[in-house]
Amino acid sequence: MAVRAQEITENYALYNGDCIEVMGGFPDESIHLSLYSPPFAGLYHYTSDERDLSNNPDYETFLEHYGFVISELHRVTLPGRMTAVHIMDIPKGNTGRGDGLFDFPGDVIELHCQCRKPDCKASDFKRRKGLCGHGEWEYAA
Ligand SMILES: C[S@@+](CC[C@H](N)C(=O)[O-])C[C@H]1O[C@@H](n2cnc3c(N)ncnc32)[C@H](O)[C@@H]1O
Repeated sequence: MAVRAQEITENYALYNGDCIEVMGGFPDESIHLSLYSPPFAGLYHYTSDERDLSNNPDYETFLEHYGFVISELHRVTLPGRMTAVHIMDIPKGNTGRGDGLFDFPGDVIELHCQCRKPDCKASDFKRRKGLCGHGEWEYAA
């Protein structure tokens, strides 16, 4: 497990590292719930680390990278348990002249479907709406 720093107590374990590499050290079917907020592709850049999902050159490459996160989540999550993701549509530009949006929630649902049984359908997943500091959000579970 590639961990930069960690703290392990009786009640919790915190690991600082690339989530894909860190999850790679977890046993299969060992997690009940994952809850997280991923980068919204390149909307904001958080670090200059090439492992940072926000540093992919375009939306398609970001989704390919993010697919490894979802694959690991599927491997480590116990059957019947949950993953929740803070997510929203992503603006394609900022000109104010009809820039359009990427359907990021839809694409994340699609990535989850690709990791599941062959007959998995996007309609098997719920979308919820809410509000937070960033505005409207949705998650797929
Ligand atoms: C939308 S922010 C959420 C931050 C924090 N959870 C919060 O709510 O304030 C996304 C975070 O994911 C981090 N991140 C990006 N790629 C990562 C990776 N491969 N492994 C671990 N963290 C990553 C980014 O550096 C950034 O800090």
